[in-house]
Amino acid sequence: PVPVLTIDGPSGSGKGTISRQVAEHLGWRLLDSGALYRAVGYAAGAAGLDLSDAEAVTRCAQATKIRFQPSADGSDTRILVNGHDATDELRTETAGAAASAIASIVPVRQALVELQLGFRKAPGLVADGRDMGTVIFPDAPFKVFLTASAAERAKRRYKQLKEKGLNVTLASLQREIEARDHRDASRAVAPLRPAPEAVLVDTTGMSIDQSQQAIAKLKPG
Ligand code: CDP
Repeated sequence: PVPVLTIDGPSGSGKGTISRQVAEHLGWRLLDSGALYRAVGYAAGAAGLDLSDAEAVTRCAQATKIRFQPSADGSDTRILVNGHDATDELRTETAGAAASAIASIVPVRQALVELQLGFRKAPGLVADGRDMGTVIFPDAPFKVFLTASAAERAKRRYKQLKEKGLNVTLASLQREIEARDHRDASRAVAPLRPAPEAVLVDTTGMSIDQSQQAIAKLKPG
């Protein structure tokens, strides 16, 4: 089977950046599964749906067309939701909270399974998310669980969002991240937790490069 490296963990653990760099380094494909949940939350919001209406949001998840489109110069990937470039909207903490809300609906998660499995193509896949190693790719030969302290994760997110020109405060961001982590870890379906065989990497106090090196020691190639 095509090899998969799963990288799961909470918000701000460095997953996104590290997954991208590792995929690039290996020449493997990348699945940003969080973007799928963000896209569904966004589409549901855009359609004026109540995010707690499980049936309506499920229909929306089944109907939403999500496309990852590398930019012309290859430097970043745009995310098209029903044909609309929603990349910037999807990065906000509002979109993160909407994603977390709809991600606890079982049939919404089911609606995204096939799409995620379809990313597993030669020569390999790096899968970034919350349940990559536990639910979607349980047979993956390489599993990593990234963590970092809540304070450090909030600081990283703050810096990222500031760089994007978004107006947030560190204190409110930390509260939002902690609330989202709590919801993700305590939900009944696909709760955030390491696969038993995952290697735990705590990136508190590590730079992205140091984190990537820690993972490079574990991964193939
Ligand atoms: O980048 P960050 O970790 O903040 O968020 P994300 O990976 O884009 O995920 C946003 C939300 O989607 C999470 O808080 C989860 O509730 C949900 N999610 C999930 O349930 N399962 C996944 N495999 C990925 C994300």
